Amino acid sequence: MWKVQLFKLNYDEKESQAVKEVVDSGWITMGEKSKTFEENFSTLLGENAHSVAVSSATAALHMSLLALGIKAGDEVIIPALTFVADINVVRIVGATPVLADCSSYENWNMSAQTIEAQITDKTKAVIIVHFAGYPCEMDAIVKLCQDKNIALIEDCAHAPGAKYKNQSCGTFGDYGCFSFFTNKNLSVGEGGMLTTKDEELAQQARYFRSHGMTALTLDRHKGRAITYDVAQSGLNYRIDEMRSALGLIQMDKLKHANAQRKILVERYIKELDGIQGFTIPFTKLEECESVYHIFPILLDSHVDRIALIGKLKEDGIQSSIHYPAFKDFTAFKDLGLNEAPIAEEIALRELTLPLYPTMSIEEVQLVCNSLKKALGA
Ligand SMILES: Cc1ncc(COP(=O)(O)O)c(C=O)c1O
Repeated sequence: MWKVQLFKLNYDEKESQAVKEVVDSGWITMGEKSKTFEENFSTLLGENAHSVAVSSATAALHMSLLALGIKAGDEVIIPALTFVADINVVRIVGATPVLADCSSYENWNMSAQTIEAQITDKTKAVIIVHFAGYPCEMDAIVKLCQDKNIALIEDCAHAPGAKYKNQSCGTFGDYGCFSFFTNKNLSVGEGGMLTTKDEELAQQARYFRSHGMTALTLDRHKGRAITYDVAQSGLNYRIDEMRSALGLIQMDKLKHANAQRKILVERYIKELDGIQGFTIPFTKLEECESVYHIFPILLDSHVDRIALIGKLKEDGIQSSIHYPAFKDFTAFKDLGLNEAPIAEEIALRELTLPLYPTMSIEEVQLVCNSLKKALGA
């Protein structure tokens, strides 16, 4: 149906083989592959990070809030422009979500200033998102959270491999939460990683991941344990061996895939230079290594977004929106969420163009030609 899809998996026979090997091995629940996946992910992040493989980033975010003791009566600051997982987990633990606005129309991430504007004596945690793979300005954010004694959770769903001042995203806060959902830079279908530099927080996460149990099924299978204790209440947020095996292959591909994304984004920017009707954000970040998860543009206010999406579709170009504003969702209409003018405006005018590591320059060209035609440029 599409000439250029929004996203395509970066899979080949290596992924098929990896899953087949797991299935043939006779051990499919969390085991040695998952352990290696965690070890390799920790190596990727550096900073002596601990990694806990889980079933999704949403699970990782939920576990972070639980482990940090966030509860009813607490306020958690989240980006006004993000995926619904961030507001959902805050509400699920009974806490109150408070929205921090984007820094500007150029840098859509929250800044220390936009976070600080929302801090009250009830603020217990901040969840930041490295939007589209572009790192937030971590020096000021880390300092703010330390000064105010507020926990910091990094939602790194868009940012595996991204760096701020040469330090990996996911190692700045108390916890980092990565997503390996299908359309992410590292895809396993459904999966995630919870990262932390604190051994105690890592142990907490392991307990929350697996019913608070002190031994895994694998430990009993290997004869390392006969029974188990339950140290605390927990959930089942485990990953399985098939997905960890996919994760290991995808990790091997990550550096090259992220480099390809960069080349494609640079080509987009060159092709679209001087075209009227939109601006391209995140072009002025310094000391950051982005991983270019998506390619968002900001349409001028007079451009009819729905009509434009329709025209791109007629040319076989898929596009998307990241993200609709929370206040427009039925579930959050009556929450009395605070206003975030820049994020609300971006939510109305944002358009995401196709981007994936196996995309060709010719496909970038097709998208750009279609966009130019649709805008009458
Ligand atoms: C910013 C952000 N946070 C969290 C999530 C949730 O990730 P998962 O689907 O792994 O739970 C996503 C996924 O789309 C996301 O984009």
